[in-house]
Amino acid sequence: MCGIIGIASNKAVSSNIINSLKKLEYRGYDSAGLATLNKNEIDEKKCSGRVDQLEKMLFKNPSNGSIGIGHVRWATHGIPNVTNAHPHSTEIVSVVHNGIIENSDNLKKKLESKGIKFKSQTDTEVITLLITEQLKERQPLESVCNTLKQLKGSFALGIIFKNFKDIIIGARRGSPLAVGYSNNENYLGSDSYALKSMTNKISYLDDGDLCVLSKDKVEFYDLNKNKINKKIHILTNDQNVANKGDYKNFMSKEIFEQATTAKNCINEYTDSLKKDINIYNFPILPSNIKKITLIGCGTAYHSCLVARYWFEELTTIDVEIDIASEFRYRKLKFDTNNLYIFVSQSGETADTAAALDICNKNNMKTCSVVNSVESTIARNSNWVLPIHAGPEIGVASTKAFLGQMIVLFILCLKLAKVRKDIDHSTFKMNLSNLEKLPEAIEKSLKVENSIQLMAKEFLDAKGSMFLGRGLSFPIALEGALKLKELSYLHAEGYPAGEMKHGPLALIEEGLPVIVIAPKDKYFEKTLSNMQEVIARGGKILFITDHKKELINENIRFGIRMPSIGNLLSPIVLTIPLQLLAYHVALLKDCDIDKPRNLAKSVTVE
Ligand code: G6P
Repeated sequence: MCGIIGIASNKAVSSNIINSLKKLEYRGYDSAGLATLNKNEIDEKKCSGRVDQLEKMLFKNPSNGSIGIGHVRWATHGIPNVTNAHPHSTEIVSVVHNGIIENSDNLKKKLESKGIKFKSQTDTEVITLLITEQLKERQPLESVCNTLKQLKGSFALGIIFKNFKDIIIGARRGSPLAVGYSNNENYLGSDSYALKSMTNKISYLDDGDLCVLSKDKVEFYDLNKNKINKKIHILTNDQNVANKGDYKNFMSKEIFEQATTAKNCINEYTDSLKKDINIYNFPILPSNIKKITLIGCGTAYHSCLVARYWFEELTTIDVEIDIASEFRYRKLKFDTNNLYIFVSQSGETADTAAALDICNKNNMKTCSVVNSVESTIARNSNWVLPIHAGPEIGVASTKAFLGQMIVLFILCLKLAKVRKDIDHSTFKMNLSNLEKLPEAIEKSLKVENSIQLMAKEFLDAKGSMFLGRGLSFPIALEGALKLKELSYLHAEGYPAGEMKHGPLALIEEGLPVIVIAPKDKYFEKTLSNMQEVIARGGKILFITDHKKELINENIRFGIRMPSIGNLLSPIVLTIPLQLLAYHVALLKDCDIDKPRNLAKSVTVE
């Protein structure tokens, strides 16, 4: 997945393209490029690496065109080098692309058989060359429509033309694309966030839409060149602007603002006077809900895993969870009494969006738990529960994970209440624990110094294991994922009871094993599993909210967390694991906010 931007203006556009690309780097950061129409020629500049590099190139050699397109890349076809960086241009057309063209090999063969030469290994170059062929006999819009009809796969495109110097054409199928409006300037962007500093007036393209924008006009078309209308949305002012403040990086800021994230989210959903939860208008009458299916990717999937235990514990609803990339290809049996919940920080993840589409096509009731209410997933679902976490910039998700868990807990508690699955005192006790959560998170963040010491144990380690049972099992998975993402160290998350069925073979003298053991019904069992690891030489790092004195010669480090009741313990126990991944990565001098090979919003399959 990649980020694209296009600007048509009456003044030079390259510096605004650079600023927008910096905002889009969460989508990919292995190469960057732009093309403007400069003195009637396509002026293409690209580099491998970050947008900063591209900016330096432009300082030395400016690009003065008043119409242009830009791109940040997350490589799919072809290694991240200058040649494969976007835009991909011929003398007469230049293209930026987000998505994957699945039939690019076939199209390439056909073009090569006509003697057409390719410069890059990308799938995108076929689009450039097909449009170039079409332009020999046709106008731009028709050329693009004819090209798109030949493509299989997903795309968001931005295209400029040497001989039609006033226009940018945008097109969408599968990958998100927004249009922004201003005075004497109009924009194209992968998301509204990239355009927010320039405008708050936005339209969103739907699959199959095209747009033709010039500095003073935007027109929308379908694939058959019929004009269509689009609604203009006025974006709200986001107070929580993405800014690092005094923190070293976004990730540490995002970890340390989690008490506030929790407070904001809880305040949005609870009525402290009436002691109730403000969630109404369920898309299915709560008493009719037979099953809830929770779907997400990566960290969002882990929040679904946590929620499964909550729904099972507090409601009588059947719960199923799935990874979106699996769900979308399963042979499913749909039932109108099922509620499908899609969890996504960005609201743009391709697999999650596709899974949602399948449910919509089958007339299912859908709900999304998202951070961005303007996102594709939010717009396409029947019911939206925002997490109110503010922009999350660090690629590895932290505060959004916390927000997702809180919203899912609140939803679960409300459903349990209105369905009368729990009595009033259970509801009250859980709501009161929830209200205490921000303070518990604040206290949890104080373990940072101990975690810093723990982090040193990972520097020479071959790998590590994270173990938990029940609600701590998904937290073990998330702890391992955070460590992998940030420090590139091999880490496995496992249900502690499953160790003896294979993974125990990995334990050897000194291997760091993080045991997450809150004071719950599994506590003693987890201790027994830990003994099996100790007996084989594993180096134990123990995290608990149990008051009992546990540290002994077999436990290398023990971290005591504030207690917030069994059900909410996973939220608190996540904090030391985020800090651990962060400090190991810091010691290893890794790029904390932009780990290698990853991107924040994965808009390709
Ligand atoms: C990427 C990010 C992860 C995130 C996952 C799902 O892999 O690097 O941090 O958890 O996508 O993203 P979503 O926006 O759908 O929550």
